[in-house]
Amino acid sequence: MICYTLSETTLAECLRKIEQNREYIDICELRMDFLTPDEQKSAYLFPSMVDIPVILTLRRVSDGGKCALSEKDRRALLLSALDGDFAYVDIEEDVKKNDVEHYARSKGIKIIRSLHDFDSMPEKIYSRIQRLSERADVAKIAVTPHSISDVLTLFRASEELEGVNKIIIGMGDWGVCTRILYKKLGSMLTFASDTATAPGQISAKDLKLVYHADRIDENTAVYGIIGNPVMHSLSPLIHNPGFEAIHYNAVYLPFLVDNVRSFFALAEYLKMRGFSVTIPFKVDVLSYLGNITREVKQIGSCNTVIRVPNMWKGINTDYYGFLAPIEKDIASGRIKNALVIGAGGASQAIVWGLRNRGVNIVILNRTLSHAEKLATINRCQFDTLDNARKYEGKVDLVVQTTSVGLYPDFDINPIDGFEFTGREIVYDIIYKPKMTRLLKEAEKKGCKLHFGSEMLIEQGKLQFEAFTGYHYPDGIKIEF
Ligand code: ATR
Repeated sequence: MICYTLSETTLAECLRKIEQNREYIDICELRMDFLTPDEQKSAYLFPSMVDIPVILTLRRVSDGGKCALSEKDRRALLLSALDGDFAYVDIEEDVKKNDVEHYARSKGIKIIRSLHDFDSMPEKIYSRIQRLSERADVAKIAVTPHSISDVLTLFRASEELEGVNKIIIGMGDWGVCTRILYKKLGSMLTFASDTATAPGQISAKDLKLVYHADRIDENTAVYGIIGNPVMHSLSPLIHNPGFEAIHYNAVYLPFLVDNVRSFFALAEYLKMRGFSVTIPFKVDVLSYLGNITREVKQIGSCNTVIRVPNMWKGINTDYYGFLAPIEKDIASGRIKNALVIGAGGASQAIVWGLRNRGVNIVILNRTLSHAEKLATINRCQFDTLDNARKYEGKVDLVVQTTSVGLYPDFDINPIDGFEFTGREIVYDIIYKPKMTRLLKEAEKKGCKLHFGSEMLIEQGKLQFEAFTGYHYPDGIKIEF
């Protein structure tokens, strides 16, 4: 079930949130601690106002909530609300007095016993969940992993607790996968909200429409993207609709990763079939691959890992993604000479791709030695950014591969002052913003433009083929 956490101050606002999210959710949690004291008095009416089951929660400040009442007064408030027809009431692990529990049971309201840790992962998670479950209908833990191995601990604990009614949540960015893959953890539900009432919470709409989290089952193949940072990744918006269109029971989600080795342990545990790799792991991942393609070997980095019998195989779809939008202009001879700005990881794949297609290149970079290294490997020229104007009028293609101009520092251009003739094709691989400062200047001169989103989508489509064996389906509108 997808559970919407209501953190509004009035019941009327809560109802509005339910209406807005109704098609994505199965159950809701009324966070009574967010309601004004006046509204709290009417909280008991709430279950009769909605057509889905309601969990009643009155969270203390010490557990990340807003209720600052004495424990006695808090329990009294909970008891008064329990006159309503709630499906569950949440009672924290350390609440000893059992008046709330008794009253709830007498009314047929089920008990969720919960444990929260907003800083870390408590010791002995397995036995604590076990103990919680002995005193409740559902045991809930919401803890804070700080590494991918902490995340793996949560999955392993859940496996040992098979048969126990539970909710296991890893909070924060590390735990996002536990929210999306809640069914793989055997959790009864996952919490969602528009306002992230707890760190890492995802909107109900995304859980339902992007990840289809409520349809994941033991047969669902898991794919994802590893990076750090990674939560901004747009790749789920490419792959998940693709899986849906070919009726493939699979999900693609972001994994924040600290080290590649631990991630491979999680990937094995989840029986993952493949994943995308982004900054800063495109080189680190190489040592864990049993098989790499010629492109990966020559480019020196890998952005796609797929499961093949008994090993992981690395391929690179970045160079293809970059080339696809300008392929015709290369094939027709329109592009013969290129200026490539930057000599980092992205530039490696681009320079390799262009050289492979016979294009002459000058690499311009802030640090000359980096440009020199890449130029030597690929047999091309190099220079510093300060000399950019030397190449005015001499190139057919200008490619921008650095992070200069990326949101939020978008009003800068790495070759400020460079005069376009209007004949150049100008390609910026940044996709946020779509119109970088460099592209704006090129547009003023009438240059043909290419955008980072084109490269992103094309590399993703080829990746999709590697993941599934199917062409990326036609007619999917990829909207970022
Ligand atoms: P990526 O993998 O995204 O290419 P990277 O490997 O960190 O990222 O490479 C970043 C590129 O952006 C490099 O070419 C870097 O120039 P240096 O080699 O001089 O570091 C370039 N870059 C980053 N910040 C820059 C800045 N403020 N001005 C100019 N170039 C910059």
